[in-house]
Amino acid sequence: MKRLLLLNGPNLNLLGQREPETYGSQTLEDIVQLVTDTADELNYELTAFQSNHEGELIDQIQNAEGNVSGIIFNPAAYTHTSVAIRDAVSAISVPVIEVHISNVHNREEFRRHSMIAPVSAGQVIGFGIDGYRLAVLGIIKKIESEGR
Ligand code: DQA
Repeated sequence: MKRLLLLNGPNLNLLGQREPETYGSQTLEDIVQLVTDTADELNYELTAFQSNHEGELIDQIQNAEGNVSGIIFNPAAYTHTSVAIRDAVSAISVPVIEVHISNVHNREEFRRHSMIAPVSAGQVIGFGIDGYRLAVLGIIKKIESEGR
């Protein structure tokens, strides 16, 4: 069975209690369940990982090469700052879809810029946690059409 990796960055472990007016009331556990179910419907196996540490996210991205067919990634605040994460995404051939729960374009100015976007296969922004489901559907279509 083909595999997908779900990666979530810093502070996303606090979803449900963190700024619910921006991020909603659903938890990281709900997201993992939604993504697992969506992957399962399409016969993909999912591994999920969340970290508050940049290096741990980079380790996961590096390890993905050769082991998974695609990555669904919400880099959270590292989206806007991390050259190291961008370089890791750039270093692998596995397609990465960037997801943001909130619409980063109608918030603070600094959230409008993504370091990761130029090296991502696509972005899903502003659809709440449903964005993760959309990202799974999109990445699987891409994987299948490219014969990965
Ligand atoms: C986020 C948006 C980021 O700007 C922020 O730092 C997050 C979450 C989102 O999913 O909307 O932590 O990636």
